[in-house]
Amino acid sequence: MNQASLHQMVAAKHSDDKKATHFDELFELRLATNLTLIKDLFFSIYPRATHGKAFKQLLDVLPALHKKRAPTLKAQDIERLQQGNWYQSEKLVGMQLYVDHFTKDLKGLADKLDYFEKLGVNFLHLMPITPRPNGENDGGYAVNSYHEVDPRYGTKKDLLELTEKMRDKNMYLMLDFVANHTSNEYPWAKKAIAGDASYQEYYYTFPDRTVPDAFEATLPEIFPMTSPGNFTYHPKMKRWVMTVFNSYQWDLNYSNPFVFMKMLENLLKLVNLGVDVVRLDALAFMWKKLGTQSQNLPEVHALISLFRLCLQVFAPGVVFLAEAIVAPNDIVKYFGTGATEGNECEIAYNATFMALLWDAIATKKTSLLYKSLQNLPSKPDDTTWINYIRCHDDIGLGFEDRFITEIGWNAQSHRKFLLDYYCQAIEWSPAMGQLFMYNPKTGDGRITGSAASLLGLEKALKQKDDKGLRKAIDKIVMMHGLVLGYNGIPLIYAGDEIGTLNDYTYLTDPDKKDDSRWVNRPSHNWDEVAVLDTGKTYASEIFFALQKLIRLRKQLPVFADQNNLSLYYSHNQHTFLFERTSQDGKGVLVLCNFDEVSHEIDRVELGSYGKQSGTKDLISGKRMKFVSGKLKLQPYQLCWLVKS
Ligand code: GLC
Repeated sequence: MNQASLHQMVAAKHSDDKKATHFDELFELRLATNLTLIKDLFFSIYPRATHGKAFKQLLDVLPALHKKRAPTLKAQDIERLQQGNWYQSEKLVGMQLYVDHFTKDLKGLADKLDYFEKLGVNFLHLMPITPRPNGENDGGYAVNSYHEVDPRYGTKKDLLELTEKMRDKNMYLMLDFVANHTSNEYPWAKKAIAGDASYQEYYYTFPDRTVPDAFEATLPEIFPMTSPGNFTYHPKMKRWVMTVFNSYQWDLNYSNPFVFMKMLENLLKLVNLGVDVVRLDALAFMWKKLGTQSQNLPEVHALISLFRLCLQVFAPGVVFLAEAIVAPNDIVKYFGTGATEGNECEIAYNATFMALLWDAIATKKTSLLYKSLQNLPSKPDDTTWINYIRCHDDIGLGFEDRFITEIGWNAQSHRKFLLDYYCQAIEWSPAMGQLFMYNPKTGDGRITGSAASLLGLEKALKQKDDKGLRKAIDKIVMMHGLVLGYNGIPLIYAGDEIGTLNDYTYLTDPDKKDDSRWVNRPSHNWDEVAVLDTGKTYASEIFFALQKLIRLRKQLPVFADQNNLSLYYSHNQHTFLFERTSQDGKGVLVLCNFDEVSHEIDRVELGSYGKQSGTKDLISGKRMKFVSGKLKLQPYQLCWLVKS
């Protein structure tokens, strides 16, 4: 049993007493429940002999900031504990957006909540809204503060008003906590630059290249084209500083316990703004060790668990999302294993599933999708995924070579084919993506592009190709339908619901032109939205198709994530099938065809769904017809079958 389950049991025993003293008592109880674990984790990272003082600070920070937590949020924390694992609900459907690309600012966003409601979206991931340096700032992932609002988006008051409005509408908010690095303008960085040795220890800084060179021997490069190497020389500080991402993003040194303490304070202040899910950005990188790749180290897991157990005491209604875009076997570890099992992140990005869906689109086959999913370690029961077809970042081909080989393909040439297919090196390919961080030496690269452009809509429009347009629309709907049916929270990138194409304006902005991820971060097309109801545009067709899928999903408790997903197998290598089941024996069979021609599935392969004549597809509303015992799937058709 994990700690969250203990807190749920305790909360279930407490009445709906809303008095402040009651909340304080429950806080004390939670602290007492977690304290030994917190202490053990803390001293497993920071030796007791030298760091007792830092630990005492933790005991001051937690209650002091809890006093500042709004009573409505404290009440919500308890309600959520009483509800159980709210984040596994079928009712959650998310959207990710840059506030300034969607509307102008937070006030504008608050006025657009009806747009989300119309689509059925009730969970928003707002990209960083905290202050950042002018010029290059990695879309706000270089932070100057963790809990202030950048004036371009409005004020803290605007944010608080937005969160209040969202709570009234039962909407959830996810914000980033950029845990691995600050900007080079963060107050600690400024003090380090001014020569303050104690703040130089908040980062990894070195007087010469000796240690940096030793690190470089094993550290990979994240942005090899735009920011090669992992260290940057600061002439004023006269020291090298570790900058794993961009040169203006300084990696925090968590081996210094005061960094942990201050970052915990930053986290709690952020959470007090009314955040429901904290996205732990780039968390795999949070611990560095010479001689390693400095990713996914055991200390990272201890550190995250330490943050988790403190947050659980402080705000048990708030959960963590792991932004761990790492190897499939490493991703699941962020749910916690061994000593930290169940006590790390409740949610993680299903980056493997995402990448495999794109593989199936390009190959029109589901062999690698099945092979890889069969070999994925299962996730713990109290956790869930974020399922998405793409996000604001690039699409990395995050699946394992050995599975490519095992299905009889050559891994190197297969990866090259995928880059060529998506990044305009194959004439017949409908995709119009761009290469990201392509390394000619290794042949490694990633893919950027909006969902619509990667799925052929842009090319079809350009070539006035009606058949291509039809296929693109069907692919967009099918891909979204798969993530809406899979186990986890579906997250749509804003604009994909209306088929928004690539945005090439970034090429004219000197601060963005070298980062092709901006091609897939378009501004929201409100002109298109204005004519959605006419039903005459492709945007409208996509929007209403997704609206319907979302409505259906929310009506079916079987879509709640209880780890209730099983793959079905068909002899047809173009189809993909999985079933979601509930304990009362109800189920939905999701199936689709990744090919541009129709395919058949034998009814025996549909198990009990193939036995009854009453099997119905919820999406088309039609009863399924079997001709000579076979079910025909049209190109890119998606079905959600139920037995009547
Ligand atoms: C995460 C973000 C990405 C950013 C990086 C560094 O991966 O998703 O956009 O560049 O962290 O902060």
